[in-house]
Amino acid sequence: MMDFAGKVALVTGASRGIGAGIARVLGRAGVQVALHCASRRPEAERVAAEAAPKRSAVFQADLMAEDGAAALWRAALAWRGHIDILINNAGIYEPAPVLEGDDDAWRTAWRRALQVNLVAAAELSRHAVRHFVPRGGGIIVNVASRAAFRGDAMDYANYAASKGGMIALTRTHARAHAGQGVLVYAVAPGFVRTEMAEHSFRHGIDEAAVQAEIPMGDIAPVGDVANVVAFLASGLAPHATGTTVDVNGASYVR
Ligand SMILES: NC(=O)c1ccc[n+]([C@@H]2O[C@H](COP(=O)([O-])OP(=O)(O)OC[C@H]3O[C@@H](n4cnc5c(N)ncnc54)[C@H](O)[C@@H]3O)[C@@H](O)[C@H]2O)c1
Repeated sequence: MMDFAGKVALVTGASRGIGAGIARVLGRAGVQVALHCASRRPEAERVAAEAAPKRSAVFQADLMAEDGAAALWRAALAWRGHIDILINNAGIYEPAPVLEGDDDAWRTAWRRALQVNLVAAAELSRHAVRHFVPRGGGIIVNVASRAAFRGDAMDYANYAASKGGMIALTRTHARAHAGQGVLVYAVAPGFVRTEMAEHSFRHGIDEAAVQAEIPMGDIAPVGDVANVVAFLASGLAPHATGTTVDVNGASYVR
C-alpha cells in the first residue's frame, strides 16, 4: 500500500536508536534516505548501507550549533535536489536537577534540551515548509514523547517542555499548511529500548518501575515507533494531519 517511489526523506539522528530504525524501514520501503548524524559517521554509514544501498547518503551536523540545522538542510537538499519527507528525530535527554546542583548547570541543561529537541526541529521544519509549499506539498513527522502530555521525572522538565513545544509546533504547522499539501504529524513514544533509555536506567531512572507501569509488559521496541513513522510519512492519511500517535504500550492512554 505504501508507495514511496521517487521520494527523498531526511531523517535526523539516524546513526542509532529510533532514527536508525526509521531509516531502515523507510529504506526498505523504497525511499531515498538522507541520514543525519551528529558525530558517529561510521555507524550512520553502516545503517545507510543496510537500509538503502545506493539510495542513501550521510550528512553530519551538530544541531546544538546555531547554524547546524540550516547547514544540514542545505547539504541534504543538494543531494537529490528535493526533499519530500522530514523526520525530526534527533533528541537529547539530560537532567536539569531542581533540588540540587548549581544554577548555571540547570540553565545549560534547559538551553541544550530546547536547542536540540525543539529549536533545531523548528528550524528544519521552517526550511521544509518553504521548500514544500511551492512544490505542492511534503510531510513532516516529529518524534516527540509521552512526556509532552504526562510530564516527566522532576529533573527532566526541560525534556518534557521541549517535547511539549514540539507538539505545539506540529499542530501549528499542520493547521497553517494543510491547504497547501503539507502534512505534519507527531509520534509520542513512551520508553523505547535504545541508548537513550539504557543511559537513563544507569543514571537514576528505575527500570523496574518503568516496566511495571506498562500494561503491554515491556518497553517498546524501536520497530513499533519506526513503523508508525513510516505509515505517517507515506501520505496515506492526509486528514490525520496535526495528530499525535502514542506508542507507549498503553502506559499513558490519553
Ligand atoms: N528512547 C526512548 O525511550 C524515547 C522515548 C520517547 C521519545 N524518544 C525520542 O526519540 C528520539 C530518538 O531517541 P533515541 O531513543 O533513538 O535516542 P538515542 O540517544 O539513541 O539517539 C538520539 C539521536 O539524536 C542525535 N543527537 C543528539 N544530540 C545531537 C546533536 N547535538 N546534534 C545532532 N544530533 C544529535 C544522536 O546523534 C542520535 O542519533 C529523540 O527525540 C527522543 O527524545 C525516545
